[in-house]
Amino acid sequence: MKSTIDLLEERISAAMAQATGQAGCAAVVRLATDPKFGDYQANGVMALAKQIKTNPRKLAESVVAQLDLSDLCEPPEVAGPGFINLRLKPDYVARELLRIAEKDGERLGIPAAATPQTVVVDFSSPNVAKEMHVGHLRSTIIGDCLCRLLEFEGHTVIRQNHIGDWGTQFGRVLLGLWHMCMGQQRQHRYYESGLKELRSTAKDEEGLPALCRHIRDRHEEDWRADSLEAEGDGKVLFKPFLERLDRLPTDQMWQDFLVAYQFVSALEEALANLELRMPTRRAGTINYALLSRHVTTMVQELDRPGNEQEKLAWEKIRALSLRHCSEIYAMLGIDFDESEIRGESFYNDKLPAVVHDLRSAGLAVESDGAVCVFPPGFKTKEGEPLPFIVQKSDGAFLYATTDLAALRYRVNELRADRIVYVTDARQIQHFQMLFKVAEMAGWDTRDGEKVELVHVTFGSVLGIDGKPLKTRSGENIKLKELLDEAIERAKAVVEEKNPELSTEAKSQIARAVGIGAVKYADYSNSRTSDYVFSFDKMLAMDGNTAPYMQYAYARVRSIERKAQTKGVDIASELASVTTLNLSEPSELDLAKHLVRYAEAVEAAIADYRPNYLTAYLYELAQKFSGFYNSCPVLDAPPASRPTRLLLCGQTARTIGHGLSKLLGI
Ligand code: ARG
Repeated sequence: MKSTIDLLEERISAAMAQATGQAGCAAVVRLATDPKFGDYQANGVMALAKQIKTNPRKLAESVVAQLDLSDLCEPPEVAGPGFINLRLKPDYVARELLRIAEKDGERLGIPAAATPQTVVVDFSSPNVAKEMHVGHLRSTIIGDCLCRLLEFEGHTVIRQNHIGDWGTQFGRVLLGLWHMCMGQQRQHRYYESGLKELRSTAKDEEGLPALCRHIRDRHEEDWRADSLEAEGDGKVLFKPFLERLDRLPTDQMWQDFLVAYQFVSALEEALANLELRMPTRRAGTINYALLSRHVTTMVQELDRPGNEQEKLAWEKIRALSLRHCSEIYAMLGIDFDESEIRGESFYNDKLPAVVHDLRSAGLAVESDGAVCVFPPGFKTKEGEPLPFIVQKSDGAFLYATTDLAALRYRVNELRADRIVYVTDARQIQHFQMLFKVAEMAGWDTRDGEKVELVHVTFGSVLGIDGKPLKTRSGENIKLKELLDEAIERAKAVVEEKNPELSTEAKSQIARAVGIGAVKYADYSNSRTSDYVFSFDKMLAMDGNTAPYMQYAYARVRSIERKAQTKGVDIASELASVTTLNLSEPSELDLAKHLVRYAEAVEAAIADYRPNYLTAYLYELAQKFSGFYNSCPVLDAPPASRPTRLLLCGQTARTIGHGLSKLLGI
């Protein structure tokens, strides 16, 4: 079954073609801007009139003369320069609603996609060497919602969590772990005191080199003791250390691990600054940076003999990180299975071929020692051609190389018809260039068919001060802490409103409300804008919030309970309904909105915008309120009661479906 808007589009387009003899006319039917003018308007006549150089108003009139919409609408009216205003007949609305409620129960009027596709959705994708922070929230939940929408539309969705589990970052963690190992070995957690000292001496030109030299000497001494001279693969110290990690509680391990990472990053940063400030100092004087590079190179060659301990360390770090991520995914109600977590490391052995193939196609060239593609149309600030670098001069591959390999894999192995990438807006240029290079290489086609590449972007999460959300000390807010706080705050509300509930019920509700509020607040903002994160606002009982929607849902549902106490048998009343009686304006208003659910869902999918769905649901809750305040349901006269019961039932189903099935709340 087609949605109302599609039916109107089809019929009016046909009438336009008939009136002008033109093929491919588009009626451009939209929701009316003001209910005064009706329910829908067709805007396409103006463009057509311009194209064939005729008076738009006259054309609109002759289109209307051709048009028979008597089964759907009141007689169409021409307005302004050539709009066609359309008002649905209550009869039609009643029939539609009955059809959706009775025959189309599961789908709530939403037609399945005419040509189902295989859609790969790349989302969440945190760098696992770090803690997930609030920036990962949006990709994770927007991506999840898009998957749900596409799946419900009938597409085969393949989720891909493109985690950053490779490269320099991992080199740092490895090095950090090494420090931890040595610290434990010497009964001295010097990575911790080192970090403290480093912070305090960061501006001290005398102290810092001394500290760095100290750390370097210690480090190199240890390294030597545990490397080739000893066993050849760090079996003496590092491997037993890594094995001991398994016996540590995850939380402690995770905290240690973060400190180790911070330590190495801070050290590197300090050294970089130092070199900047002391350009005459020979690079080799403090060669910590080289050491870190050395580990990074090893990370890139994990499978080489002699690198067993690095490989083991990599595996442990990755597993630990993923355990941390899955805790957050579980809180958010998002589920990735093993094959859906396909990180950067997965493509490692496919990278040389990417560079090779680009070179032999004549697309990649050497520039300053690096291998680059220069896609047309991209310029640096200075107006020079902008390179898409696929290999550095030291042989290392990059983010771009991995993305090209992933794209090929998704097109050829996963057989995607469409690939959707969900990341923040700062990566726009990367993806524009990626798509362009893929097109140049012909990698975005399979069997002669173009694969559609889509970048879905989003803005930042801001604090009340309008700046990107950070802790007071300026660090990224950890996602785990943010979610915990949401649950805590929701719990306080539950305590206050329903002190009589059991502890278990309270914490279950607090979870649903707290997490629901965070997700809903994100969804209800246009994804391309930044938004201000406010617990107070998102947990408010009024306005377009999760608690309001959850309450609205509960309120509709409570009618069923009341029906029982009043001895009203809803099921048997509904079973006897053959026509609906929409005589009250608020009944008709609610019914019209209910039959529009498919339009809202389709619009949300077409633009990858969950906020179209939240806006629809909010309006639905408001229209239901309007109806419920003016029309008694259980005490309605017999002629009205079945219709009203059906309106209530369908409202509950629609809100429930939108919140839980499509938004995952
Ligand atoms: N790991 C990246 C980040 O945290 C996001 C990856 C997005 N996906 C991709 N295929 N590049 O910024």
